[in-house]
Amino acid sequence: MPRTPIGVFDSGIGGFSVLREIRKILPTQPLIYIADQANVPYGERTGDQVRSFSRAMTSFLENAGCRVVAVACNTASAAALYTLREEFPHLHIVGMEPALKPAANSTQTKTVGILATNGTFEGEPYRRLKEKYGHGIRILETPCPGLARMIEEDNPEISSHLRDWIEPMLDDNADRIVLGCTHYPLVKHLISSIVGNRAQILDPSEAVALQVGRMHAQHSSDTDLNITLAEMASVTLYTTSDPEVIRTKAEQLLWPKISALPLRWNGKVLTTI
Ligand code: DGL
Repeated sequence: MPRTPIGVFDSGIGGFSVLREIRKILPTQPLIYIADQANVPYGERTGDQVRSFSRAMTSFLENAGCRVVAVACNTASAAALYTLREEFPHLHIVGMEPALKPAANSTQTKTVGILATNGTFEGEPYRRLKEKYGHGIRILETPCPGLARMIEEDNPEISSHLRDWIEPMLDDNADRIVLGCTHYPLVKHLISSIVGNRAQILDPSEAVALQVGRMHAQHSSDTDLNITLAEMASVTLYTTSDPEVIRTKAEQLLWPKISALPLRWNGKVLTTI
């Protein structure tokens, strides 16, 4: 019996930070990843646009046989998670939100800094999160316009922009810095070198991957018997832009010998070529 793939999507390569954690937990599971690089960054799109893109990627993953789908994008989760769960009742959909809860529970200075896109800060899930965990602490919200795109493009200015966004939060006494966009853990080494030991950095990638693993264990009937080597190796990347570009990135950030295939937008629907 073929093994059920797990689906993961993002506006671009940000979801790699979640994909690599899923791979650690489920090393033999086929994984399908979609990067909508024709439309990145989602942080600068309207909620309706992001919902429409997210719906199409979820539908593609459902048709590819996925039962569990990770929305490895805070901005897409903010705009679309509730809608996707309603529209795809047969799927188990794991979303993302900034790690405000662990930050609020552990801050000593009662000041938490959050880096995320405007789309995430403006979404209903974040509003609810703040209502639940934001009492008694100061939350310094720092939208980072253009950062996801800079990370996609390996822009050499990333470090100096990060410094401009992060230092004011540290100077304002934040002792927790939350990475509220899946692109940001990809430059965690740069963030760490700015933060030093002045604050703790919270990256939710592993927690999300663990939740994906739990969902998969509950809802898949796969066994590890009789898997072939080819199945073990199967991680398929799709992009709505140039497959060669994402393949090269994946080899830098994930594993060697990873294949990437093109997807095309046909109106609001995604098709293979
Ligand atoms: N990686 C995404 C997130 O977690 C989206 C960034 C973007 O496309 O603006 O928010």
